[in-house]
Amino acid sequence: MDLFEYQARDLFEKHGVPVLAAAIATTADEAEVMATKLGGKVVVKAQVKVGGRGKAGGVKLAENPSDAREKAGAILGMDIKGHIVHTVMIAAAAPIESEYYLAILLDRSNRTFLVMASVSGGMDIEEVAHTAPEKLAKIPVSAVDGISATKANEIISAANFPADVADQVANVLVKLWEVFQSEDATLVEVNPLVKTKDGKIIALDGKVTLDDNADFRQPDHEALIDQAAENPLEAVAKEKGLNYVKLDGEVGIIGNGAGLVMSTLDVVAYAGEKHGGVRPANFLDIGGGASAQVMADGLSIILGDRDVKSVFVNVFGGITACDAVATGIVQALELLGSKATKPIVVRLDGNNVMEGRAILNQAAHPLVQQLDTMDGAADRAAELAAK
Ligand SMILES: Nc1ncnc2c1ncn2[C@@H]1O[C@H](COP(=O)(O)OP(=O)(O)OP(=O)(O)O)[C@@H](O)[C@H]1O
Ligand SMILES: [Mg+2]
Repeated sequence: MDLFEYQARDLFEKHGVPVLAAAIATTADEAEVMATKLGGKVVVKAQVKVGGRGKAGGVKLAENPSDAREKAGAILGMDIKGHIVHTVMIAAAAPIESEYYLAILLDRSNRTFLVMASVSGGMDIEEVAHTAPEKLAKIPVSAVDGISATKANEIISAANFPADVADQVANVLVKLWEVFQSEDATLVEVNPLVKTKDGKIIALDGKVTLDDNADFRQPDHEALIDQAAENPLEAVAKEKGLNYVKLDGEVGIIGNGAGLVMSTLDVVAYAGEKHGGVRPANFLDIGGGASAQVMADGLSIILGDRDVKSVFVNVFGGITACDAVATGIVQALELLGSKATKPIVVRLDGNNVMEGRAILNQAAHPLVQQLDTMDGAADRAAELAAK
């Protein structure tokens, strides 16, 4: 999960990374109140989970509270690369002398963590990384040792930080590692880390990505979820423990096993080209134990999607054999009753396939059609969705 800047700022503060006083606002009036509280001269910053806000006009200096009101009014509602601004952060304005860059990230290809550091930070860091890569120091950090004071000094000399800020930057690096490790992050980035005119080092902008796989041991992170942006169907699926991702097509997909579901998406997209370009409406892997309840939960989520015109259930019987899955489908349709309204194409194969097909034939549910092959079933589902 990516965090908003203000959430990253709060985590920084919690772990002792120096940040500026700040508050959030969702209206121009609120922005004026917050600016007054923060002492007048502030920066108004769009809170969207996308980079390049400054260049898009989403970060503005305000001279006084009424100016903050005006700037917030202009920024709220703005569209930044497809992200609508619903919230602004009002931060005290810092007198900047230099802008630096620091990031700790997971380096998957080298199976380690990596620190990136540069004294040429700020809004052009991507450009710097591209045209003058020698200005961006890259130092591996081991998961076991992390960033000690010694490691921090190694990073500081590799990136040529000036001597007068070395101690403060070292402190920030150690604290950022604490954020990275104790919050289970996969990215902690500060751009810019600034030196102010009176020689203080402050994190002015933070970007943090948390590792969702660690949610089980990070109960506090639930409060950071952006409820408004969660797809409601995805939220229900998560509650039911289903692996569901909403896509933008018309053919609902249910399969067992992530690999099978992925290839089902491909086959449906391919078949859909012949039927006016219909496409998969979702990814849904019901996993190994496809019980009637799991099948009912999966079907009800997919049938609740207004974009879905037909459903393709593609199951390869393994440990859970086809007869168990077929029974699950029949019971799921009983559970759903009149809530099941869309044609369902089923393709069963694998363990106990004959028994499974017989169960569906015998139930003879009016919405269910069986096809023997994956391609044939994908074609039928796409055809039904196109009608
Ligand atoms: N509190 C502040 N006081 C003074 N100047 C600021 C403050 N916050 C940001 N700035 C200036 O605005 C620039 C852009 O701000 P920021 O880094 O937050 O946005 P951004 O980098 O454009 O956004 P993103 O990091 O999402 O791409 C900074 O490089 C800095 O020069
Ligand atoms: Mg930035």
